[in-house]
Amino acid sequence: MAGALAVAACGPKAQGQPVPADLPPLKAVAPVRVGACVQALHLGDPALSALLTREVSQLTPEWEMKMEYVVQPDGSFRFDAPDRIAAFARAHGMALLGHTLVWYAQAPDAFARLDEGRISFVDAYRNYILAVAGRYRGQVVGWDVVNEAVAEDGDGWRDSLWSQRLGAFEHIALAYRTAREADPHAALLLNDYNLEYYPRKRATFLKLAERLLASGAPLTGLGTQMHVAADIAPGEIGRSIRELASLGLPVHVSELDVSLTRSQNKLLSRDELRRRQAAVYAEAAEALMDLPASQRFAFTLWGLRDQDSWLKKENAADAPAPFDDAGRPKAGAAALVEAFRG
Ligand code: XIL
Repeated sequence: MAGALAVAACGPKAQGQPVPADLPPLKAVAPVRVGACVQALHLGDPALSALLTREVSQLTPEWEMKMEYVVQPDGSFRFDAPDRIAAFARAHGMALLGHTLVWYAQAPDAFARLDEGRISFVDAYRNYILAVAGRYRGQVVGWDVVNEAVAEDGDGWRDSLWSQRLGAFEHIALAYRTAREADPHAALLLNDYNLEYYPRKRATFLKLAERLLASGAPLTGLGTQMHVAADIAPGEIGRSIRELASLGLPVHVSELDVSLTRSQNKLLSRDELRRRQAAVYAEAAEALMDLPASQRFAFTLWGLRDQDSWLKKENAADAPAPFDDAGRPKAGAAALVEAFRG
């Protein structure tokens, strides 16, 4: 018992909160799959792969399953990096989440300049989804089929190459139908961000999900990215998750990170932000845990260690992850363990 209660200062004193020295792995205490994003390149870092293997039971390729990686300038596809991630997941008994088939933000030239004398746009679109989802059929637990379909302010849907060529609603519905054709068993998710910040965006997201279901499109789950800042108002995350669950579909906390530097409240000290960061991690886990077990898809962190976070590119002073640069648990990791244990 004494050992279990022993605390050790974790990292530099400035970090503030002490973290139990013998914190159990997240995946050992969570009653749901715990995920992290990863790049194939980073799998060669032994410290990271050891931390991933210890802490998580699911991987999401951070960018190498997106069109930006898969589609080459001549229109051919490459799968070396995502295959390496899939092999790592398999070797370590982890689930794999496909991310992402259709994203307004990625419209490769090969599609924009398609020679329709050779192949129609709709066939090229379907062919892409069939090729990618087909390749990982049986290997993935699910796909973020369409990413970020709702307009920034929640006023309707995104305009994109896909919407322009195939129709605002139709290209989305077609993506789900085609992904199902390629993989009969994968969960097919709709994934978006800022849903906890903008109730209007959340309402449009839910309306889109309902319309997809009403049209017979095989949507089976909702992903809420949750790139949030440490000063988000307490209660907003819980409210959002409860509302998303109202359709009865499983919910995926799909890309959680808690930025210190994106916080708007400049009155909060760095130490206070760190304290709030841990509380935000806990609120997210508790909110998912409060759903019926059948509605908890998974809980995914967008970067386990600070040094791997995409937010570092935006601001090197950020420290958004639950583990520090050296992979030591921060207060956020301890808060997650506590929340998962209930
Ligand atoms: C980000 C990755 O983290 C970066 O490495 C990449 O360059 C750009 O995309 N929403 C998403 C993720 O769905 O795919 C994004 O990931 C973060 C925002």
